[in-house]
Amino acid sequence: MGVSGTPAPPSLSDRDDQKRAAAEAAAALLENGQRVGLGTGSTVAHLLPALAARGLRLRCVATSPATRVAALELGLDVRELDELGELDVAIDGADQILADGWLVKGGGGAHTREKIVAAAAARFVVIASAEKAVAALRPPVPLEILRFGAQRTLVELGEARLREGAAPSPDGNLIADYLGPIEDPRRVAERLCAQPGVVEHGLFAPELVSDVLIAGPHGVQHRSLQRKERAR
Ligand code: 5RP
Repeated sequence: MGVSGTPAPPSLSDRDDQKRAAAEAAAALLENGQRVGLGTGSTVAHLLPALAARGLRLRCVATSPATRVAALELGLDVRELDELGELDVAIDGADQILADGWLVKGGGGAHTREKIVAAAAARFVVIASAEKAVAALRPPVPLEILRFGAQRTLVELGEARLREGAAPSPDGNLIADYLGPIEDPRRVAERLCAQPGVVEHGLFAPELVSDVLIAGPHGVQHRSLQRKERAR
């Protein structure tokens, strides 16, 4: 993974300032005419005004109603994914980021749409504040599960429970959390994928990720990953 730095703004000690710095660095990567996937969450909330301020001609896809509303209010052009088809770039936050590119996402319960949008994009850029970089992934892993047989699905998973007070996913499904160990993320991802009733889990494999922009007290670190090209 290649690493490069950009000069530090005066103070990035605050987590929210770091999220804003990472979001602004991602906005600076975009070019006129691109089709852009917009993630969900407080880091993406900083991305939207940064994109609008660039004044580029972009066509965007939102991964949640909240992002859609915020983007439209800022005057961004928001379309349906199936109208645009392939995307040039998707930009989104994450809850945990491993150095090798594995992510945990879904703190906002939108990880199914986020994964679809990331997979539709030629380049997937992850933006985050410094505390999201972790040495090892830890539970919980967010799950979107079907309402039909939800208790049975949770029993089959074993170490999983519904997330208390969580809003439904953007597609009306339940949000739960897998609480088992994640020493081998690929094995856990395969197991979660294989469980009927699990619509999608929040483990994102390094193959999906192109760039990670992590802002810390000393500026934004840009890591480039070798995303595996998929047949299109
Ligand atoms: C939503 C997500 C978010 O990207 C993730 O939870 C990070 O959120 P934030 O930017 O608020 O820290 O996956 O489903």
